[in-house]
Amino acid sequence: MALRLLLFIPVSALLVLAQPPGENIRAWADQAVAGYRLPLPGLGRAPRVLTEAEYYALPEVNLKTYPVYTPDKEPPNYMQWLREQGPKPLVDIASLKTEADWIAAGREVFYGRELPRFTGSEDNLQLIRNPQILAAYRLQTSRDGVLLGLRYVVREKGKVELGTDTCAMCHVRVMKDGSIVEGLANTFTPFGPLMGNLTRRYAQMSPQMMEQRRRAHMREDYRVPFLKDDPNLAVADLPAEEIAKLYDQHPLGVHGRTNTSLLYPVKIANLIGVRRYSYLDRTGTARQRDITDMMRYSASVGDVADALTVYGDGGDGKLRLEKMGLASGVKRTPDALLYALSKFIYSLQPPRNPNELTGEALKGKDVFARSKCADCHSGPDYTNNKLTLAKGFAPSAETRKQVNVMRRSVETDPNLALKTRKATGFYRVPSLRMLWLESSFLHDGSIGTLEEFFDPKRLQPDFRSSNWPAVTRPHAVEGHRFGLDLSIADRRALIAFLRTL
Ligand code: HEC
Ligand code: HEC
Repeated sequence: MALRLLLFIPVSALLVLAQPPGENIRAWADQAVAGYRLPLPGLGRAPRVLTEAEYYALPEVNLKTYPVYTPDKEPPNYMQWLREQGPKPLVDIASLKTEADWIAAGREVFYGRELPRFTGSEDNLQLIRNPQILAAYRLQTSRDGVLLGLRYVVREKGKVELGTDTCAMCHVRVMKDGSIVEGLANTFTPFGPLMGNLTRRYAQMSPQMMEQRRRAHMREDYRVPFLKDDPNLAVADLPAEEIAKLYDQHPLGVHGRTNTSLLYPVKIANLIGVRRYSYLDRTGTARQRDITDMMRYSASVGDVADALTVYGDGGDGKLRLEKMGLASGVKRTPDALLYALSKFIYSLQPPRNPNELTGEALKGKDVFARSKCADCHSGPDYTNNKLTLAKGFAPSAETRKQVNVMRRSVETDPNLALKTRKATGFYRVPSLRMLWLESSFLHDGSIGTLEEFFDPKRLQPDFRSSNWPAVTRPHAVEGHRFGLDLSIADRRALIAFLRTL
């Protein structure tokens, strides 16, 4: 029967099916974009993103970039060779045929799409050749000496620029044995303290440098136009040393990125298995209904379309491009590249878990069931894919209808969900897969180990987590009290079970 039906399908239709759809898929169709972002209660609606017409009016950039090596591993005459290259496309879109081609192209985009905002000057080019500075930055390096997250950019022949902040800066981990796991968060580079030191450097250079390079950026990266007495805006006016000290307190694996805050940074996401989520980001800022939502998310990452999102009414609701270092205007990544990148992200696989579900871990499985963890962490990915309420937040009836939100709150620190441009009022129920590879927990990475997470001592004001920098003062980490009343044996068993997932 199935065969008979198949015979009736014209051959041309089969050919269409066999062809990957990547060439025609659009990231920014008005109809699909409409439901993409969740409402921000402070604003009373979702932020205004670009319309289809505005988006496609932006100039495209598909520009080849090149690996940056540590000085000892750089191939002979590499810089000379780079100066002889002209601008070329990062991906030859016409040559992509098979699924494997698209994924491989997506890997190129993941490692190679730099952010024009940060593409640096001659002095940066010199800095990166200085072994002392390299050691201080603690950038991750592959076995063959490639500095992950940086790229050389050739916009015109003869001129080599240093680009930075590709996806690989944050979403790749170099393991102890030197192997690379794509998709895992970078928990090696101390992004906070790095920004702290940069702040001190600018302040030492001159008040103008401090204003232009740091304070102006902080205002645009962090301010929340719809928030009264915005604390994120206020920190930009603190004395430089105080700003630096706040950055110094960020644990490894969290980032005070655009749309979050110096005060309320967020844990860097693990992209392996991200496809499972209906809502992206810890606060569920965007829906993931199909691959085009992942394309939109990837387009918005790092100021591209995000810089043109309007977070409030009036002139002040718009972020100022020139102050975000985007005076020359925003460029967009071609749809085919966003499609390839999303395919690559969807193809990421977890490394083999050495922890087996035997003995203590098996007992822990019972503890997990008894403790009703599966009220939220249910199904094959250990998440019901719902949102929970940030402490103190009550959504409107209208919002309740639109989003899949539980009536419960786990009462963790509510600031990211209430006081940033990611302030949906919600925290997503995270998957419990791959916890054995994590070294920070909760949306703000405020806990360093599972042992600490399930220890009631963390509710005390003298608590110090193992992943906090030395400068962070002791304080309680509140919320998510599930499992805190277990016996020591049950707690150990539960943790052993969680490490097998
Ligand atoms: C400077 C560090 C950094 C860079 C560079 C970066 N990301 Fe992220 N990424 C983060 C952080 C931090 C989060 C968590 C955001 C949140 O939860 O609000 C995140 C979240 C995500 C998510 C959502 C994951 C989830 O669990 O919902 C996706 C998808 C993603 N990033 C893709 C990318 C892509 C694609 C690129 C490159 C174009 C990129 N990121 C570049 C730091 C970075
Ligand atoms: C009412 C829903 C709910 C219940 C019940 C629940 N959790 Fe959670 N869990 C969450 C939410 C929401 C978060 C994220 C909170 C945040 O980011 O601030 C979370 C975070 C976690 C984390 C940290 C993961 C990460 O990515 O940060 C672990 C581990 C965890 N839960 C395990 C458990 C275990 C074990 C139980 C049972 C003893 C349990 N949870 C019960 C909702 C729940």
